[in-house]
Amino acid sequence: MSSELSYIMIKPDGVQRGLVGEIIARFEKRGFKLVALKLASPTEEHLGKHYADLKDKPFFPKLVKWMASAGPVVCMAWQGKDVVKTGRVMLGATNPLASAPGTIRGDYALDMGRNVCHGSDSVENALKEIALWFPEGLAQYTLAAEPNVYE
Ligand code: RTP
Ligand code: MG
Repeated sequence: MSSELSYIMIKPDGVQRGLVGEIIARFEKRGFKLVALKLASPTEEHLGKHYADLKDKPFFPKLVKWMASAGPVVCMAWQGKDVVKTGRVMLGATNPLASAPGTIRGDYALDMGRNVCHGSDSVENALKEIALWFPEGLAQYTLAAEPNVYE
């Protein structure tokens, strides 16, 4: 099995709208392996580190303030073949109105600032994000379904 990892985070709007189970189910059913999972209430400072690449964007202050105040997020690390790129495809476009039906944002969102879920945009950023959100490390186990997901 590929050791590639992605950091997937259900944003406060996704939690409040009861989409946690739905989003986890999509990643599970696709064949990915869940290697870390928790609820968190991040500070603006922590979110500033997560979204460091965006700190000069005009929407950055609003994004971080909202993410820190609208309720908890669900933090996950998923592992498997091409999980970074495939996870982004499963999420859809940043703007939900441009997201295809069948994607998470295309099925459940309308506004850019309420797009339900985050997904790492590169393998390198995924490792940085996982280190930031899961300093305690990841679960180590064998996924029993593996021979039925990978040939
Ligand atoms: P994410 O990091 O949350 O997975 O989203 P993304 O890669 O698709 O988009 P990114 O450029 O990283 O932006 C992070 C989040 O900021 C909000 N955003 N607002 N013009 C705007 O008002 C604007 N652009 C981005 C979105 O919630 C986006 O997911
Ligand atoms: Mg992003």
